[in-house]
Amino acid sequence: MPGDKSVSHRALILSSMSIGKSEITNLLEADDIKATIQILKLLGIKIYKKSDKWIVHGNGTNGFLQPKKDLNALNSGTTARTLIGAVSSNPIKCRFIGDKSLSKRSMSRVTVYLEKLGAGFKLTKNDYLPLETLGTEKLIPEEITISKPSAQIKTALIFAGLNIAGEFSIREKVVTRDHTEKLLQHLNVKHKIIKGKDGSNLIKLRGPYEIYSKNIKVAGDPSSAAFFIVGALITPGSKITLKNVMLNPTRIEYIKVLKKMGGNITVKKTNKISGEQCGNISVCYSKLKAVNIDKSLSPFLIDEYPILSIAASCAIGDTRMEGLSELRHKESDRIMSIVSNLKKVGVKARNENDSILITGASSLETKICKIKSYGDHRIACSFMILALLNKNIKVDNEKCVSISYPRFKRDLVSLLRK
Ligand code: S3P
Repeated sequence: MPGDKSVSHRALILSSMSIGKSEITNLLEADDIKATIQILKLLGIKIYKKSDKWIVHGNGTNGFLQPKKDLNALNSGTTARTLIGAVSSNPIKCRFIGDKSLSKRSMSRVTVYLEKLGAGFKLTKNDYLPLETLGTEKLIPEEITISKPSAQIKTALIFAGLNIAGEFSIREKVVTRDHTEKLLQHLNVKHKIIKGKDGSNLIKLRGPYEIYSKNIKVAGDPSSAAFFIVGALITPGSKITLKNVMLNPTRIEYIKVLKKMGGNITVKKTNKISGEQCGNISVCYSKLKAVNIDKSLSPFLIDEYPILSIAASCAIGDTRMEGLSELRHKESDRIMSIVSNLKKVGVKARNENDSILITGASSLETKICKIKSYGDHRIACSFMILALLNKNIKVDNEKCVSISYPRFKRDLVSLLRK
């Protein structure tokens, strides 16, 4: 599997904040990651590719230079939000911009917390890009409590905290994806994680840090693997094995859900790569049954609801997915894009407040139906998987898969040929 998107962003940013040269292997070469590379270059970081490795010459945690141009995060929420955090504790003024979709996504969800540390921002309509960072010289370490379950917010605060003098702690009420913490451990950045009995997490840092560069290998992306896993589960006669997939528990909850639906999936651990457990996943075609997915699982399924909806469309019975409010703030309003497209293909689907209800269909629409991806890569990939069962399903903008997986179509077709 190609490199994980979340880890690829973090590998580049943390290498840029290290002292010395790092080599990154299996970096995801997708549009979102290109946005991060481009911005880091404008912030004075030397980054280039040499054979199959990406080389980053880090400038330290306070080493970002005043950019001469706007910083364009394109479609990438992770790029914008985590880099706003990273530059906010450097005395530079940056102007972040993004594409039409990103310009509709909230940035104040990150800046409200950074403002508590003394950082200053100018946001469009108090929430959106274009956004300017005002370059406050010294931020104050505080204990910050994050109420929204978001790894992006947590990461933005950690990146800012690496250049703040003193003890700084971040409490997340609900545990979220922990790639940043895992990579900090790999880079020997001393920090403490205290797990609360109430399910919360306290992360303690003591900055400013001097991080020494270390090579990073990026494990395969489990969210991209999910498309092929569901593809194999719903296509009669399928049997595939996906190699080098990251098995971080905060990312593979969807495998538990699919197994509960009757999916024949076997996971074999192999090695650890830069702090992340990896393994191989084997999948066979299975008759799926409906499932109830509790809202407590949503931080661990956040990017997989579109493809889980496809599995639910092919399962017997009524599937209910709860606690999906965060899906409204992704590359598209995913509650709307899932439900409206499923209806088009003849699947009974509706939303009730923050839940989606799907009744598995015994047959799909026979007329040609055009799926609207809304330029959302995960919606496009998910419906390209459903199209395996019905050639009348056409996705309007297949090219947008390049946001997270440029080779998606090629890899999918290669599996079909075997
Ligand atoms: C990501 C976190 C998630 C996820 C996004 C990548 C990350 O967003 O949806 O695709 O790399 O931290 P939230 O943390 O805002 O839920």
